[in-house]
Amino acid sequence: MAFELPDLPYAHDALASKGMSKETLEYHHDIHHNTYVTTLNKLTEGTEWADKSLEEIVTGTYDKTAIAQSGLFNNASQHWNHAQFWEMMGPDASTMPSELEAALKESFGTIEKFKEDFSAAGAGQFGSGWAWLVKDSDGGLKITKTENGVNPLCFGQTALLGCDVWEHSYYIDFRNKRPAYLANFLDNLVNWENVASRM
Ligand SMILES: [Fe+2]
Repeated sequence: MAFELPDLPYAHDALASKGMSKETLEYHHDIHHNTYVTTLNKLTEGTEWADKSLEEIVTGTYDKTAIAQSGLFNNASQHWNHAQFWEMMGPDASTMPSELEAALKESFGTIEKFKEDFSAAGAGQFGSGWAWLVKDSDGGLKITKTENGVNPLCFGQTALLGCDVWEHSYYIDFRNKRPAYLANFLDNLVNWENVASRM
C-alpha cells in the first residue's frame, strides 16, 4: 500500500507566533516531506518492500557499515522522522508531565542541563541531521545526534523527542542561527505531553 503524507496536526500558521512560520511549514511539510513520501512510493512499488511497514523498511534497509545510506533508506527514514517531528510540536503552551520531568532530572541532573546537552547535540551535528532524546534498550534516557535521515529505530532505541537540524527546518525563520532555532524549539515548540506519551 502506498504511503501517504500525514496532515499537519495543526494549521500551517499555528506555530508562527512561536517561531516556526507558515512559510517554513509550507515548504517543510508540503514540499520536503511530501517529496520523501512520493519518492519512497516510487522506490518501493513492485518490490519486496511494497507491503512492509515504514518501520520495517527503515530497520531492514539501514546499513551500519555503509558510508552513505541507500535512497530507499533515506526516504523511508525521513518520512518516519518528519511524521514524528510534526507530532512532537504544538501550538499550545505545554507543561512537562511530572514523570518526564523526573526522568530527565534523573538522567541529566536538571531540565536546563538536558536542554543544554540536546542543543549542543543539534548544533554539533555537522551538516544535515537530527538531535534526539531517546530511551535506550536498557531503559535509560540518552541524547544522540544522527546524520541525514538516520534515526533511533536503527539502533533499537525509542525516539522520545527529535529536532530536525536540516537547514530547510530553520533557514527561513532563523537563517544560519541553528543554536537559536534549537533554543526556540525547546522553549516554545515542543509538545511535552507527546514526548511523555512515548516513554
Ligand atoms: Fe526536514
